[in-house]
Amino acid sequence: MSSGRPQIFTNFEFEADLRERLTAVGDLHALDDTSPERILEQLAPANAVIGWLTVDQAFLDAAPELRVVSVPAVGYDKIDVAAATARGVAVCNTPGVLNAAVVDLTTAIIIMLSRRLFEFENYSRSGAWGRREQPPALAHDIAGKVVGVIGFGRIGREVARRMLALDMRPIWYDVYDELLPGAPDVPFRPLDDLLRESDFVTVHMDLNETSRHLIGAREIGLMKETAYLVNTARGPVVDQKALTEALQSSSIAGAGLDVLEQEPPDAAEPIVKLPNVISFPHIGTSTHETRRAMRELSVANAIAVLNGEHPPAIVNPKVLEGES
Ligand code: GLV
Repeated sequence: MSSGRPQIFTNFEFEADLRERLTAVGDLHALDDTSPERILEQLAPANAVIGWLTVDQAFLDAAPELRVVSVPAVGYDKIDVAAATARGVAVCNTPGVLNAAVVDLTTAIIIMLSRRLFEFENYSRSGAWGRREQPPALAHDIAGKVVGVIGFGRIGREVARRMLALDMRPIWYDVYDELLPGAPDVPFRPLDDLLRESDFVTVHMDLNETSRHLIGAREIGLMKETAYLVNTARGPVVDQKALTEALQSSSIAGAGLDVLEQEPPDAAEPIVKLPNVISFPHIGTSTHETRRAMRELSVANAIAVLNGEHPPAIVNPKVLEGES
């Protein structure tokens, strides 16, 4: 392993062309991720790691030669960025290329909930229609409904744009309240007002210490009885226990969840079985096109750092200061 070339470790299966790009700059190794201990054992020579991994102090200590952690995801909540920055390790992610896929899923969930598609589909599939049973209750149009977008970053802004195209009425909340240049010109609301006014509340906050359980029992309690909560961001932004209780008591109409507090959940997790919930196994970016774009960007990020260049997407650009 002491070829003098950069040592790149990944637990991803890359296509041949991406492997070639990586092997043009360094030696590529498959990272055995069967257990956290096994991961740590392999890291001593690593200069670059590409993958969905938990990167904490123990990881960094086991990888003294590490220069870059490249995550093929926009969310980097499993990375201790402060610890990586202190060690001069670049943390890179894949923003932008996945916006459309997440917006598509969010839109689909909103339409499924509003039009009661899961109930009607089950009515047809189960043979209830053929048996002339009573059909599910009438659904609702989405046009004219208020969509409260919590988190007005890259994805939240695209969600608002899509909702406008669907004749819905987006409003937004974030920790800042000034419209950024290029953002769709829709009204800001303080969080409590947004929760009170929305027919759909859709969560697009990244997960950090401020956003953890941002939506708890008090916040859910402000929502209309007829409103739906949609989360395609990160499970822990919503207090799942409080949400489960609200759904069980029908204090809100329902929820559409692509993310949970624990993934995968326990087999007995109640929220995924509730009749007023539709849930998915974290598939916001699960399309061939989007996953390919994420892999490409994660490879480009790692290669740029190894070459001493500014990567296309970096979370802690400070670590590059002083490099040419
Ligand atoms: C997916 O959840 C991502 O963060 O890219």
